[in-house]
Amino acid sequence: MKIRPRNRRIGILLSGRGSNFEAIAANVASGKLRAEIAVVISNVESAPGLARAKERGLNAVCIPSKAKAREAFDAELVTALSASDVGLVVLAGFMRIFSPVMVRAFPNAILNIHPSLLPSFPGLHPQRQALTHGVKVSGVTVHLVTDDLDAGPIVVQRTVPVLDDDTEESLAARILAEEHRAYVEAVGSVLDGRWKVAGRRFVRL
Ligand code: GAR
Repeated sequence: MKIRPRNRRIGILLSGRGSNFEAIAANVASGKLRAEIAVVISNVESAPGLARAKERGLNAVCIPSKAKAREAFDAELVTALSASDVGLVVLAGFMRIFSPVMVRAFPNAILNIHPSLLPSFPGLHPQRQALTHGVKVSGVTVHLVTDDLDAGPIVVQRTVPVLDDDTEESLAARILAEEHRAYVEAVGSVLDGRWKVAGRRFVRL
């Protein structure tokens, strides 16, 4: 029997729609992404992404975050992820900021996706921020998670044009299509393990 290395077991965290989760799950199912989805966790019971994960027959659970202190909630996440022997945590529209409890439990082993070219437009409504600023190019960033919000080493970035007649919705849709490709690529790169972090830089070996 072939033993899978521990680090190919991923835990996906989401809070909403779950289209990035779907892109990853579809690529895992087709064999294009060599990974195993060990657990899908939502902090929101009604998240459509959680229902989609259950439809796929995945181990999918809700751990509510409402009214919980950040550290207490994070400790519950660490317990659940460890119980599923997760080697890489993948944030797919997970709208919670971590305390050091999560970041220390998974050092350089949490990936986040953000719909802007970081360090431009971190935080909420990045597509709106891009339009308000008037940039001509925006895009997507996949990065390792550190204690600083939206600021960890960058694994993958892809650009998309910002058009004169763009609305927040049209720009978000153009970026989202690129997100799905970028996330699958980034998860594959990190799972391959042929990389190191040098200062702020994610460097392939
Ligand atoms: C995506 O656009 C993702 O980049 C963004 O939330 C959306 C989730 O969509 N994440 C953040 O803004 C994190 N700061 P999805 O649920 O369809 O994957």
